[in-house]
Amino acid sequence: MDSNAIRRKFLEFFKSKGHVIRPSSSLIPQNDSSVLFTTAGMQQFKPYYTGEKDAEKDFGSKNITTAQKCVRTGDIDEVGDATHCTFLEMLGNFSFGGYGREKAITYAHQFITEELGLEISYVTFYRGLKDVVPRDEESKNIWTKLGIKDIREDGADVFWGPTGDSGPCGPTTEIYCKNGAGQDVETWNIVFNEYFCNGPREKLDRGEATLTKLDILGIDTGMGFERLLASIQKKESVYETDLFEAIMSIIFPQGLPPKDNWVYEKNVKASRIVADHSRTAILMISDGVLPSNTSRGYVLRRLIRRAVFNCHENNIQIMPHHLVEVFAKKYNDVYPEIFNQKDEIIKVLSDEELKFLKTLKEGQKELEKMAMALWDKYDSFGKPIEITLPLNGQNLFFIYSTYGFPFELSIEEINKIRLHLSHGYKYEVLSDTEVKKLKEEFDVEMKKHQELSRTSSVGMFKGGLANHNEKTVRLHTAHHLLLAALQAVLSPEIKQKGSNITEERLRLDFAFPRKMEDVEKKKVEDWVNEKIKQSLNVIRREMPLAEAEKLGAQMEFGAKYGDTVSVYFIEDEKGEAVSKEFCGGPHVTNTKELGNFKIQKEEAVSAGVRRIKAVLL
Ligand code: ALA
Repeated sequence: MDSNAIRRKFLEFFKSKGHVIRPSSSLIPQNDSSVLFTTAGMQQFKPYYTGEKDAEKDFGSKNITTAQKCVRTGDIDEVGDATHCTFLEMLGNFSFGGYGREKAITYAHQFITEELGLEISYVTFYRGLKDVVPRDEESKNIWTKLGIKDIREDGADVFWGPTGDSGPCGPTTEIYCKNGAGQDVETWNIVFNEYFCNGPREKLDRGEATLTKLDILGIDTGMGFERLLASIQKKESVYETDLFEAIMSIIFPQGLPPKDNWVYEKNVKASRIVADHSRTAILMISDGVLPSNTSRGYVLRRLIRRAVFNCHENNIQIMPHHLVEVFAKKYNDVYPEIFNQKDEIIKVLSDEELKFLKTLKEGQKELEKMAMALWDKYDSFGKPIEITLPLNGQNLFFIYSTYGFPFELSIEEINKIRLHLSHGYKYEVLSDTEVKKLKEEFDVEMKKHQELSRTSSVGMFKGGLANHNEKTVRLHTAHHLLLAALQAVLSPEIKQKGSNITEERLRLDFAFPRKMEDVEKKKVEDWVNEKIKQSLNVIRREMPLAEAEKLGAQMEFGAKYGDTVSVYFIEDEKGEAVSKEFCGGPHVTNTKELGNFKIQKEEAVSAGVRRIKAVLL
């Protein structure tokens, strides 16, 4: 079955169960100025859950089904892996008092197992929040009755919403199925909208918003279409499903290089970024978003530029606008707005691409001047070289923020230019010491800039530490303990591959070839909790890089450090370090401030890389 057939099958299935098929709403939310983009199928139905509007009157039924266009840029840095996309379709069924848990779960079970013939790996249910939301025993019992063996209890990750400033929300139960790579992926989220929350999600998590019981029990489900396709079509990533098949062969018409070629992974990632960002941009423009420097237009501009940059860097000969035609055809059944406006979309994209390519060229020119000025004061005709920008970290940051050149790329360009200019006589590239010094200066600028953006909360592209409130600081220290625990329990060779901390949880990616056993997870949890109980001091020390390296402090893979570095030690009474990591902080001063450490999830991110999500209770 191809994507169009599967989408149709879903809608028809729910139609046969008394649902009315409604069209997707626009990516620009129509009645909710508090969100930039539509991120879930339920958004267009918010007033039907609260009783402000009556679905029976408006649609002739309490039960609705849709395929909804959504944009989620929160995980933009993860695009390029097997599962993440910035645009996604959500298949959903909704009910505003028409039915409850029993039917919602049974329908989902029937569709997944009978209609699609997929096996359910496991399901989750909500463990409850003391004195506020009861534990969802009912869902658990329904799954048991349906014969599901692996039923897992979970916390905040299975409590949905609200979207925007306020709205309906409630406990969820999730279905996990395997994709073609054998990884368990979250396939379907079934939400029971039983409450109204008077604040946004962050406030709810901090205990600063209140839940009021809604008059009716609302059903809101969402099945990520791309991930579902990867499961049904037995593909290792969403980019190999029929949705992207034609696109991928346009991006690399000769196919990808062989797997043992060093550019293979870089090219795979780039082609996925180009495909994903182009698709999102095309759908945004078809809904009326135009590139600009603020709000939605800014997100669109960043997506187009990132796509173009990846083409440029990977010798990809096409540009996003070359993909409009194929996506227009692919989506003509459901989103004819692309086909109907394809000329306009091509024009918007081409204009923006040209603009950005020009900026890229200007950046290159600036770098050239920097490189030449370093190499010589005169050009090959003996004419003095006009030095507009001396080579230093501040100017490299300027190049980065103005032209979008990442630091490493600038260094590469400068070295390339210098080699070229030396006409084969001298092969002088920047020395390690020079690069290190430039990076230090660059980082100082970067930090200043980040502080600025934090205070003006431009954080539309999430990543790294979101903010430094108490919760994230505690999770940050727990993160250090977790890495040390993994090394103690699994292998001293464990290396961190990525991390991200929000107010609710920490996330750590690390290189490890297989799934962790339950006993290993338990051991890791116990190890961390033991260190918390021992009330260990957390101490920051500044020291020369060489000394920190000698001490064996954990460095982030691939990162470059200055001559003086800051290292965080977590020490026992004898002054022995249980953890030492290169880190700018901030951290708590003693581990006793952390509470109880709990692993929520352990899963695969890509071949050989595992991800742990953990919380402090
Ligand atoms: N509203 C729920 C989600 O988007 C179903 O995951």
